[in-house]
Amino acid sequence: MKIVITGNMGYVGPTVVAHLRSVFPNVEIAGVDSCFFGHSLTNVDRLPEVSVDVQHFADVRDLKSDVFDGADVVVQLAAISNDPMGNAFEAVTMDVNAQAAVRIGQLAKQSGVSRLVFASSCSVYGFAEKEAKTESSAVNPLTAYARSKLAAEEGLSGLASDGFIVSCLRFPTACGMSPRLRLDLVLNDFVASAIAQGRIEILSDGTPWRPIIDTKDMARGIEWAIRRDARLGNRFEAINVGRDDANYRISELAEAVARQFPSVEVEIRRAAAPDKRSYRVDFARYRALAPDYLPTVSLEQSIGELKDGLLAMGFADRKFRESTHMRLNVLRGLVSRGVLDDQLRWAARGRPA
Ligand SMILES: NC(=O)c1ccc[n+]([C@@H]2O[C@H](COP(=O)([O-])OP(=O)(O)OC[C@H]3O[C@@H](n4cnc5c(N)ncnc54)[C@H](O)[C@@H]3O)[C@@H](O)[C@H]2O)c1
Repeated sequence: MKIVITGNMGYVGPTVVAHLRSVFPNVEIAGVDSCFFGHSLTNVDRLPEVSVDVQHFADVRDLKSDVFDGADVVVQLAAISNDPMGNAFEAVTMDVNAQAAVRIGQLAKQSGVSRLVFASSCSVYGFAEKEAKTESSAVNPLTAYARSKLAAEEGLSGLASDGFIVSCLRFPTACGMSPRLRLDLVLNDFVASAIAQGRIEILSDGTPWRPIIDTKDMARGIEWAIRRDARLGNRFEAINVGRDDANYRISELAEAVARQFPSVEVEIRRAAAPDKRSYRVDFARYRALAPDYLPTVSLEQSIGELKDGLLAMGFADRKFRESTHMRLNVLRGLVSRGVLDDQLRWAARGRPA
């Protein structure tokens, strides 16, 4: 089997590649990434990309069909991957996350690929505090990022056929340790704050709902989508991937972190503006279709692994929110230095050698 995976050089990608390697022993993996964050490594002894057979340093907006020659599966992770980056680079977000994603779907299908897995997001639900959202609930994408994921799902749905099975996995907010760690994710931020600042400050009143998933469980969801029997579901699935009991309030996440740091206190800014994003998600369909792939990593385990990983790095940066552990800061820095242009394309002098 040959798998082409876009966006393999980000936060989630290395974990996905490692998992696919372990569950498909003879797989050939080709990575495709523009390498925005290639240098943003945690303290690892080897590049995670050593694990792929071929690495294309390419922009998904420019891909040609030869990348998919002989491929069976395409996994699409490449994206402008959160709300702050989506707000800062709105047009690029739609180009990369939606237009390029659908074009890749077309190229892959024409090339004989039989499975496409797209990393979508539960943020398409926007604000949904009353009832947990199922796949048939109304969507309410509030940001450029969420709108781009929905547009990609819509475009990809038209491509699905008996020979081209499409799975859009609506993931909750990711968490967990990674060779390319991000601290712009709620749980990761709380653990970093506990270590570096000795306190956890919640920048809202703490009540918003935020389902989460460990990157290792995202990887298992992708494995399911690669293996799934389309006769049990549909040729096109846009499905919530996660666990019902991992719908947490922000304050519950902070308290769970504090339990692993006895001297750390949680400060809630009750006067803060309400967080516009708050949603609970129903994962019944995933439970029914993927009973062997349900998330297994507990909240305590994710926190423990982040704690161990950050301590092993000697992490102590009190100003980490201004650091390159935040993806938007990396992109802004590259653009301000003229290495990337404002369309997030490598300027000639910044092109990777
Ligand atoms: N992290 C989360 O909380 C979360 C939650 C739900 C869904 N997702 C989705 O999962 C996927 C992976 O997320 P992540 O956290 O690893 O994101 P990330 O930003 O860390 O990694 C994305 C990767 O895509 C690459 N990329 C971006 N634009 C590209 C382009 N034009 N051409 C080629 N490569 C490009 C980047 O270089 C980067 O390596 C994304 O699609 C994201 O939207 C993430």
